[in-house]
Amino acid sequence: MSRSSIRRPFIAGNWKMHGSQATNAALLAGLKAGLPNLPKGEAGDDAAEIAVFAPYPYLDQVSRLAAGSRLAWGAQDVSRHAVGAYTGEVAASMLRDFGCRYALVGHSERRSLHGESDALVAEKFSALETVGIVPALCLGETLAERQAGDTLKVVFRQLDAVLAVCGAPALLAYEPVWAIGTGLTATPEEAQAVHLALRAHVAARDAAAAERLRIVYGGSVKAGNAAALFAMPDIDGALVGGAALDADEFLAICRAINV
Ligand code: PGA
Repeated sequence: MSRSSIRRPFIAGNWKMHGSQATNAALLAGLKAGLPNLPKGEAGDDAAEIAVFAPYPYLDQVSRLAAGSRLAWGAQDVSRHAVGAYTGEVAASMLRDFGCRYALVGHSERRSLHGESDALVAEKFSALETVGIVPALCLGETLAERQAGDTLKVVFRQLDAVLAVCGAPALLAYEPVWAIGTGLTATPEEAQAVHLALRAHVAARDAAAAERLRIVYGGSVKAGNAAALFAMPDIDGALVGGAALDADEFLAICRAINV
C-alpha cells in the first residue's frame, strides 16, 4: 500500500497577515486555474489536499471563491472560549458556522509574539475539536533549543500538552522556528528525523492514529526544496508561508509532491 493511500498529502499556504480583497482574488484565481494540472493519485483522484489559511476578515471571501474547487481553507487561530465577553476574539463555532474545516493552532508566531503557552494551545485545540474543525497543531524548536540538543524534548512537550486533554491529533505541522521566514530550511533528513519521532510518540498511545496522522513540514519551503522534503517517508506535505503568496510558486510546490 502506498503512503498516499494511508495519508493523503496536505499542502497548505499560511497567508499570515497578508492580503487584500483584490490580491486574494487574484491569488485564488491563479491557484484555481492551476489545480487541474496537479498530479493525480493512483486511483486517478486528487492526490494532495490543497488548502489556504487566510486572515479572519477574508475567510468569507475565500470560502466563496474556493467553493466548487478542490481548494480547502482554514483560519490561522481561534479563541479558547466558546462564547461571551471576549472582545476581539473569534470562537470556533463562528468559524464552523460558515463551513471552516481547518484551523492552525500554536503557530510559533502566536507562541512567541503573543505569549501562547502549551496549555493555551491545547485549550484552543480542544475548542476546535469540539465543533468538528480539524486543528493543525504547529510545533517546533528555536535555534537555541536545537543547538542545545533539545529538539525532541521541546516538540514532545508541545504535543503532550495537547495529548493530555484531547485525543491524538490528525494534523501536525513541524516548523522549526529558526527556519520560518529565514530562508534556512531543515535538511530533509533533519525534518524526517523529527517527523518520525513525532509519529512514534503518537504511536505509543494509538498506533492506528499515528499511521493516519499527517505531519507536514514548514519553514522556508519553496519550489526548489519541496521535492526533496516530500521524498521523505514521514513528510506528508507542507505548511508554506512566504512562497504561498505567489500562485505559480505555490503550485510548483504542490506539483513536487511525489505520491
Ligand atoms: P515560511 O513560513 O514558509 O515563510 O518560512 C512558514 C510558516 O510560518 O508557516
